[in-house]
Amino acid sequence: MSRDLLTLRDLDAAQLREILDLSTRADLGRPLAGKGAALFFQKPSARTRNSMEMAVVQLGGHPVYIQKDEVGIGTRETVEDVAHTFACYHALIAGRVMDHQVLDEMAAAVDTPVLNMLSDSDHPLQGLADLLTIQQLLGTLEGAKVAYIGDANNVARSLAEGCAKLGAELRIASPEGYGFPAAEADALGIVQTADPAEAVKGARIVYTDVWVSMGQDDEAAARQKALAPYQVNAALIAKADDAFFLHCLPARRGEEVTADVIDGARSAIWRQAENRMHTARGAMAWMMGGT
Ligand code: CP
Ligand code: NVA
Repeated sequence: MSRDLLTLRDLDAAQLREILDLSTRADLGRPLAGKGAALFFQKPSARTRNSMEMAVVQLGGHPVYIQKDEVGIGTRETVEDVAHTFACYHALIAGRVMDHQVLDEMAAAVDTPVLNMLSDSDHPLQGLADLLTIQQLLGTLEGAKVAYIGDANNVARSLAEGCAKLGAELRIASPEGYGFPAAEADALGIVQTADPAEAVKGARIVYTDVWVSMGQDDEAAARQKALAPYQVNAALIAKADDAFFLHCLPARRGEEVTADVIDGARSAIWRQAENRMHTARGAMAWMMGGT
């Protein structure tokens, strides 16, 4: 049985644990042996493309990198026709898209499993790597105190959904207008505050992401102004509890995080980046039916 993986909210706690378990196993076999994986990108990527290509190879498959201009979704062809075309050649379709709805439409159009490599609303592959990294750093996710500082974006949403399902306690500090809708935060059991110091109090993990995500360049000035008080720096980290620092990358040193923090001894960004490959492998093994 093959399965889509479009958001972490579609998974239950047991499925999330299963993917994290698969991510660290050496006996996954070659579920993609002799098969292709279409990796379709509407936005740039360093980590996701490379971690996915290597994970496909590790599962025995052949990744094909496809840029948006080659396909022309909505201009050259419909979403459905692109999905059907990929399904003719590939055992798995992965997309990084401007609009999450494109992934929903692809998943609805074909039986081939569809994987979200980042959309405007979600970044489940990042969330899986974040969960694995926190588990490795703290020994457990249950009761882990995590603070996310800044824009409640795609990365924050997948982190929040994973934390909620696996029992980690997440607090988010964002300025007015940059947090999650109250109903969403309440449903996830997340504490939201406007005060970064309140969010990091007692936290063992402090996480941030860029203030201006891909596709938001026309809002850059307003975002930089609103989020400036939410920089993760040494003074803020000192208010946490001997915390590790995480960032999905790419980072802008001097904006959302200072260089001394992201390049400092408590930064775990390179373990986190490496875990992108391990969790991509676990996620695709799960999508192809587990072991
Ligand atoms: N974290 C992440 O998704 O990085 P890329 O945008 O480089 O893939
Ligand atoms: N929030 C960022 C994450 C990049 C990996 C973006 O969407 O651009």
